[in-house]
Amino acid sequence: MFAHFKEEEKMDNFKFNAYTEMLFGKGEIAKLPEVVQRYGKNVLLVYGGGSIKKSGIYDAVQNLLKDVNIIELSGVEPNPRIETVRRGVELCRENKIDVVLAVGGGSTIDCSKVIAAAYYYDGDSWDLVTTPSKIGKVLPIVTILTMAATGSEMNKNAVISKMDTNEKLGTASNNMIPQTSILDPEYLYTLPEIQTAAGCADIMSHVFEAYFKKTTDAFVQDKFSEGLLETCIKYCPIALKEPTNYEARANIMWASSMALNGLTGSGKPGAWTCHPIEHELSAFYDITHGVGLAILTPRWMRYILSETTVDKFVDYAINVWHLEPNDDKFALANAAIDATEKFFKDCGIPMTLSEIGIDKANFEKMAKAAALHGGLSEAYVSLNEEDVYKILEMCL
Ligand code: NZQ
Ligand code: ZN
Repeated sequence: MFAHFKEEEKMDNFKFNAYTEMLFGKGEIAKLPEVVQRYGKNVLLVYGGGSIKKSGIYDAVQNLLKDVNIIELSGVEPNPRIETVRRGVELCRENKIDVVLAVGGGSTIDCSKVIAAAYYYDGDSWDLVTTPSKIGKVLPIVTILTMAATGSEMNKNAVISKMDTNEKLGTASNNMIPQTSILDPEYLYTLPEIQTAAGCADIMSHVFEAYFKKTTDAFVQDKFSEGLLETCIKYCPIALKEPTNYEARANIMWASSMALNGLTGSGKPGAWTCHPIEHELSAFYDITHGVGLAILTPRWMRYILSETTVDKFVDYAINVWHLEPNDDKFALANAAIDATEKFFKDCGIPMTLSEIGIDKANFEKMAKAAALHGGLSEAYVSLNEEDVYKILEMCL
């Protein structure tokens, strides 16, 4: 099962560009009118199921944007649907939209990205999800982030679901990177505990996907990664205990953007692992992304631990969890994996698939689709569909 790593897996060449203007801190929303009016007068305001109305952000946006025409697309689902993208595209065309303003978490931002891209595309929006190369010109996108998790506020990715065919797929284009994102840590104060925890699990998973790679000489990237992991481990429990702790919210929010903007993954090629498997869980059962990742991660770690990977887990144990060095490398690696699982559990995340109502019924289909869509033969440790099936079984 375990591919032996080639002796020399050196850092790849890469291009790194931080395109997005990040306006970070208390009250930065005051700059919204100037930012939006760079692009025109017609704004598509995209948001989810209403949390921004309860928190008052919706009213703040309306007050600040009195001088522009606002068209609204509300009700973007967690795990945003292609049908909602299509509705958004129609609104953009009917109203000659100049800029898309996404106010919410990753789901709202991802939905906005594909709307902004599909505006210029003649065929069906779903084509842009299955075939990213079809993405050309994109309307400008501005975001106001209300959930720290995906990094969508600063990256080129969007993940869209098509539930009738149980598909949840990622697409990407540099043209979909937001122009400006406003990050006010106080907007995280109203998050339900499970979203705070799931968001941190997602941030940590983005880091793991970059950290556990065959590349052995990307010291800078790995030190960034370890710092981001330590940030989540330190501040997630504080944010859960004291939801209005600014220091905790601010550090988690910035970690979210830094975890998936190229900082940790550049130069480290290879496929991701837990993400493609989680996307299948969400495609079949519409679960919260970060919850699925938290359940999968420690099981995947146990499954891939071997003579080949143990040294990386030792780094993880010592540099992230600050465990005492130990001559028994496997004991140390296992202790770090146990600490990872305990951390998620202590944050209040249900840690088995059974707890969230998922049984074996669709494992075969999910394993097959994950191996295919995720290109898992190219992962840190190459996995086939049987491996994915076994990992899913370990999650029951
Ligand atoms: O819809 P509303 O009412 O706004 O409620 C949301 C939603 O129910 C709520 N929420 C957000 N901010 C809140 C709040 N509730 C109270 N106060 C606030 N301040 O939280 C719930 C989850 O929101 P959602 O946007 O779905 O969460 P998240 O940011 O985790 O986004 C998840 C989606 O992003 C995709 C995931 O697969 C999933 O579809 N991903 C996107 C990525 C990217 N673009 O780079 C990468 C990720 O790996 C991920 O796959
Ligand atoms: Zn993620």
